[in-house]
Amino acid sequence: APAKTEDFAESIPAGVYAEKVLSVTHYTDRLFRFRMTRPEGFRFRSGEFAMIGLMVEGKPIYRAYSIASPAWDEELEFFSIKVPDGPLTQHLQKIQPGDTVLMRKKPTGTLVLDALTPGKRLYMFSTGTGIAPFASLIRDPETYEKFEEVILTHTCREVAELKYGFDLIEEIRSNELLSEIVGDKLKHYATVTREDYPFQGRITDLIANGKLFSDLGVPALDPAVDRGMICGSSAMLKDTKELLEKAGLTEGANNKPAEFVIERAFVG
Ligand code: A2P
Repeated sequence: APAKTEDFAESIPAGVYAEKVLSVTHYTDRLFRFRMTRPEGFRFRSGEFAMIGLMVEGKPIYRAYSIASPAWDEELEFFSIKVPDGPLTQHLQKIQPGDTVLMRKKPTGTLVLDALTPGKRLYMFSTGTGIAPFASLIRDPETYEKFEEVILTHTCREVAELKYGFDLIEEIRSNELLSEIVGDKLKHYATVTREDYPFQGRITDLIANGKLFSDLGVPALDPAVDRGMICGSSAMLKDTKELLEKAGLTEGANNKPAEFVIERAFVG
């Protein structure tokens, strides 16, 4: 007999949202983006993450995903890696518009504006899918109310992996309202480490040797005016954090705002 709506409803765990996939964009064989419906009443702060899941053989599997869309958006966007044998991503990479994706009800995270003390310049350091929380924050007007200058750095292995970041900048530029708010406050600094490209190298090396600052025409890191957010692999977080601390910045948290915050990017 044909499946009835109730049959599916029964298989959705209680207390979680079941949302519809609206669009899927594949960037490389390792990266894709998807958008889905936003549940009514679901509130989050730009930069936070949620637990995203799928029913796999009758059981829900969840992983942490930064919400890549800004708090004002009526849809939710996510940027994901594809891991061939990843418990969730081997299935998630196959989703199509109309499919159901699960989301736990409570978002959380430290990459929020509230966790930073006031400053002039906000650095967002990201590698790979670590750009996701910043995709949210660079599209949030509040970021530009709080900071005079916003510098998004994105480092990937290959040039094709930078495309999502360039698409975001394009989207901001073509959004009349947002482009007016953002103006020339946002700078996008993209580098690759395993291919030829005009901008090359790990962000840690570019901070350490000062090339990041000379390329951007800004002074060296200064705890009086500069703030930072870091999102990438554990190794990248550790190394970048060390450099910020060396420059005199202290790590903050939601309950104790300070000069920089970190969060591990979803990896598999
Ligand atoms: P590299 O190619 O030199 O390893 P991944 O996909 O492995 O997370 O890497 C994403 C990007 O982060 C790559 O460009 C990678 O450079 C870079 N990366 C890896 N480890 C570190 C680290 N400890 N500090 C800074 N960048 C890193």
